[in-house]
Amino acid sequence: MTFSLSTLAVAATLAVPALAGFDLQPKNYGHKRHGYAPSKNVSMQYGGVDTSYVNVSLNTTAPAILLEDLSAVSSVDCDDYSVSVAFNSSSAFAQAASAWKLTKNGLLFITNHLGDCDVELERGFFLADSIAANNKTLTIVAGTTKQSINDTATDIEIVFKGLPQTAATTVSNCSSPSLTKRDIVATPSLTIANSLSLPPTVLYSQSPVTLTAEEASISASATLSGTIRYSILTFTLKEFTVDFDTSLSADLELDLVLTAAYNATPKYTAPALEYDVISVPGIIAIGPELLFDIGVAVEVDAGLAVQAKVSTAITDGNVHIDVLNQGAVTTSGWVPTFAHSVNISENAHASIDPFVDVTVGIACKILGGLLDLSVALEAQPRFNNDFTLSAGQSESGNATSATISTDGGSGACANGVEIVSDFEFSLIAIVTQFWSSTIYSVSVPVADECYNF
Ligand SMILES: *[C@@H]1O[C@H](CO)[C@@H](O)[C@H](O)[C@H]1NC(C)=O
Ligand SMILES: *[C@@H]1O[C@H](CO)[C@@H](O)[C@H](O)[C@H]1NC(C)=O
Ligand SMILES: *[C@@H]1O[C@H](CO)[C@@H](O)[C@H](O)[C@H]1NC(C)=O
Ligand SMILES: *[C@@H]1O[C@H](CO)[C@@H](O)[C@H](O)[C@H]1NC(C)=O
Ligand SMILES: *[C@@H]1O[C@H](CO)[C@@H](O)[C@H](O)[C@H]1NC(C)=O
Ligand SMILES: *[C@@H]1O[C@H](CO)[C@@H](O)[C@H](O)[C@H]1NC(C)=O
Ligand SMILES: *[C@@H]1O[C@H](CO)[C@@H](O)[C@H](O)[C@H]1NC(C)=O
Ligand SMILES: *[C@@H]1O[C@H](CO)[C@@H](O)[C@H](O)[C@H]1NC(C)=O
Repeated sequence: MTFSLSTLAVAATLAVPALAGFDLQPKNYGHKRHGYAPSKNVSMQYGGVDTSYVNVSLNTTAPAILLEDLSAVSSVDCDDYSVSVAFNSSSAFAQAASAWKLTKNGLLFITNHLGDCDVELERGFFLADSIAANNKTLTIVAGTTKQSINDTATDIEIVFKGLPQTAATTVSNCSSPSLTKRDIVATPSLTIANSLSLPPTVLYSQSPVTLTAEEASISASATLSGTIRYSILTFTLKEFTVDFDTSLSADLELDLVLTAAYNATPKYTAPALEYDVISVPGIIAIGPELLFDIGVAVEVDAGLAVQAKVSTAITDGNVHIDVLNQGAVTTSGWVPTFAHSVNISENAHASIDPFVDVTVGIACKILGGLLDLSVALEAQPRFNNDFTLSAGQSESGNATSATISTDGGSGACANGVEIVSDFEFSLIAIVTQFWSSTIYSVSVPVADECYNF
C-alpha cells in the first residue's frame, strides 16, 4: 500500500525534537553507607541533578567496594595497573585496611570519580590482585586490571522509571554558571508526548478511493517504567516488565470518496518522531517511540461518499506488560470517552470503520547488545458502522437530504438504510521478539438507526 500524501505539509506542523542521544550520569543520591565491608551486592544510581531515572544492581563475582559511598575517601587515583585510595581519617583508613582483603576471586573497586579512573560519564570497574596499605599516607593501593561489567557481574538488575512530564524540567543551559560540568546538562525524561494537528489534508488517494481529513488532531503521552533482570552468567533473561502510563485524545473529521465498490483499509501513517535515546553507557540504552495512524476500514458495494466525525479520549490508561509471562499482563484506567457521527451519500450496503492507532513503544539494549528487546502498546479506538439496505430500497440519495431516525433498535428499517454502529477500543501488547496479543478490548453499541433518503 502506498501513501500518497502531502508529507511536507504534515511534517511542517510537527515539532521534531533534537535527535541527540542522552547519557545519564552516575549519581549518588545520598546512598546509605554500608561500612567498609566489601559486598557482592552493588547498587548504583544514574540520573539527573536530583532524580534517579535508572538504578542498576549487580551481583559481582568478587566482593566489591563502591568508593563513592565512603565519605572519608579524600581522593582516588588510577593508572593502568593500580587504584590508589587516600583517606582523610585514620580510623576510616584502619577500618578499610582490615576489611579490604583479597578473596580467591579478588576484590573489586568501583570508581565514580572525575579524573583518570573512568570515562567521565561512566563508573569504572577494577579487579584487584594485590593490596597494600600505607599507614603513613593513609593510602591503600591495589594492583588492578580494568574490567567490563560482563566480566565482573553474574547478574544485573536494571530499574528505570519515567516521571510525569510536568515534573520533568527540560534543557538547561550548558554554560549556566550554577551548573558544574558534572551536573546534568539536560534532564531527560522517560515521558514522551506527541501531538499531530493536520490542516485539511488528503491522507490517502489511490483510485477508487480518496480519504481526506477536514480536521485531525491527535495527541498522546506516555510515561515509561520497567524492570529488567538478566543473568550474565547464563545469558538468561529473568524478568522484563514495562509499565505504560498513557493518555490520548483524537478528534477527526474525515471525508471518504469512493468512485466504485471497494474493500480495503486506506491508512495514513504520520511521520515518525525520533526521541532521544536515553542511555547509561555500556549498561542500557532506552529508545522510546510514539506513532500515529489514521485509517478507515472500508467495504462498500458501490461508489459513494462518506463523512465521519469522530472523537475519543483516554485520560489515564495503565498497562503492565510482563514480557516473560504473557498471562501476567494487567491493565487499568482504560475508560474511553467518545462521540461520533457518520453520513453516507448513497443507499448502499457499506461498512465504514474509521480508526486511530496510537503506538507507544520502547526498545531496550543492554550490555552493549547482549540483550535487545522491544515492547510496544498499540491503542486502537475504532468506530464500526454497518449500513444495510432495506428490502426494496435501491434509489440513491445524498447526505444533504438524509435524515436519521431512531427505530427503537428493532433493526427493521421499512424505508431506508439501517445503520448499526459501535465503538470498539482495543489494546494490543507487542513484544517484538516473542509475542503479541490483544490485552484489553471493549465494544460499546452506539446506534441502531434508520437512515432515510
Ligand atoms: C543481594 O540483594 C538481593 C536483593 O537485591 C538480596 O535478595 C540478597 O540477599 C542480597 N545478598 C546479599 C549477600 O546481601
Ligand atoms: C533508585 O533507588 C532510590 C533509593 O532506593 C530510589 O529513591 C529511586 O526512586 C530509585 N530510582 C528508580 C529509577 O527506581
Ligand atoms: C574527607 O574528605 C571528604 C572528601 O573530600 C570530605 O567530604 C570530608 O569532609 C573529609 N573528612 C574529614 C574528616 O576531613
Ligand atoms: C604501620 O605499619 C607498619 C608496617 O606494617 C607497622 O610496623 C606499624 O606498627 C604501623 N603503625 C601503626 C600506627 O599502625
Ligand atoms: C543476586 O543474588 C541473589 C541471591 O541469589 C538474588 O536474590 C538477587 O536477585 C541477585 N541480584 C541480581 C541483581 O540479580
Ligand atoms: C450528517 O448529516 C446531518 C444532517 O444533514 C448533519 O447535521 C451532520 O453534520 C452530518 N454529519 C457529518 C459527520 O457530516
Ligand atoms: C558484553 O558482552 C557482549 C557479548 O560478548 C559484548 O557484545 C558487549 O560489548 C559486552 N558489553 C560490555 C559492556 O562489555
Ligand atoms: C442532494 O439533495 C439536495 C436536496 O434534495 C439536492 O438539492 C441536490 O441536488 C442533491 N445533490 C446531488 C449530488 O444529488
